[in-house]
Amino acid sequence: MDSAIRSRITGVGSYVPPRVVTNQELTEYMDTSDEWIVERTGIHTRHWVDPETSTSDLALEAAQRALAAAGVDGPDLDMIMLATLSPDHQFPGTACFLQAKMALPGVPALDVRQQCSGFIYAMAIADQFIRAGTYQKVLIAGAEVHSKGLELSTRGRDVSVLFGDGAGAVVVEAAQVTDPEREPHVFSTHLHADGTFAKELWLGAPGMGYVGPYVNEGAFERGEQYPQMNGRTVFVHAVKHMAESVMEALDANGVELEDVELFFFHQANQRISEAAAHRLGIPGDKVFNTIDRFGNTTAASIPIGLDCAVQAGKLQPGMLVACAAFGSGFTWCSLLLRW
Ligand code: UT7
Repeated sequence: MDSAIRSRITGVGSYVPPRVVTNQELTEYMDTSDEWIVERTGIHTRHWVDPETSTSDLALEAAQRALAAAGVDGPDLDMIMLATLSPDHQFPGTACFLQAKMALPGVPALDVRQQCSGFIYAMAIADQFIRAGTYQKVLIAGAEVHSKGLELSTRGRDVSVLFGDGAGAVVVEAAQVTDPEREPHVFSTHLHADGTFAKELWLGAPGMGYVGPYVNEGAFERGEQYPQMNGRTVFVHAVKHMAESVMEALDANGVELEDVELFFFHQANQRISEAAAHRLGIPGDKVFNTIDRFGNTTAASIPIGLDCAVQAGKLQPGMLVACAAFGSGFTWCSLLLRW
């Protein structure tokens, strides 16, 4: 049998800050209720950082756990990528801050800024570097600190109740695969975007896109330093595109829907996951959800899900796994792998 270089996830780790924020606590800051949030989103709690903690701090914790799980030493990494929409600073990229905290001078550090799709976009980049034979060991972290940037008032309640802080990370390594039916590896990634929807879910300020200065007073008065979202449009497109992304991955690999043993959808809203599963006609117990505990952790949501599924004993070696994400951009994508 022919053998080919493929990428394989050899370790996964995750970290959420210790502070648990209940829906009840949010009612202290805005006109909302536990009932509304649970019914519309499925979220019961999320985690928030303390003031000292940044996105790269969360990424570091998750990265260390992923490296330990893979049995890989940091200095052996060929590249690190960090997917986030909540960077430590405007520049340099947060992957550079993470790389410094990991004490890995010289290792390339790349930020991926595709929001909820960021982790799968990063997986696609790692997969290409590995298939090409350029790199053998790549670390990918998805990390977010949302809590410092949310509008904690009734004006911002549609967005603020959804998001939580956290990080997940994987180590991806090159592997010679001779039997793709059995051996763990990435089958494919498929990536998409449609920038005509860019302002349906976005954070405008500060930004060079404004007429006039980067720190634009009018934008701050309008609250554009906070995420703005057209929730219903996002909802409809998320369901459609995540379901389509799964089918695209299966068709490309000649895999039947029934063969997939576990699905990981980006955790935006429990109702979005359920609607995507319904559209595909897959049983709910094949979809691994964490939204009830962590809310929407954007780029971290899929690697956090993978780690939680491993810890819960639900994700076992050899399982066929489909992941799909959708988010700001709009961007959407899929990842099919044997775990
Ligand atoms: O990773 C992608 C990130 N974003 C998403 O995934 C968001 C996708 N969209 C959604 O999840 C849903 O659209 C939401 C959860 C944001 C909203 O749920 P919905 O069922 O679409 O509600 P709605 O926007 O139609 O709002 C219904 C009502 C409105 O009041 P009126 O106009 O009917 O009087 C809102 O003002 O609910 C109100 N509302 C709230 N009430 C209590 C909006 N947010 C809240 C809130 N608490 N937090």
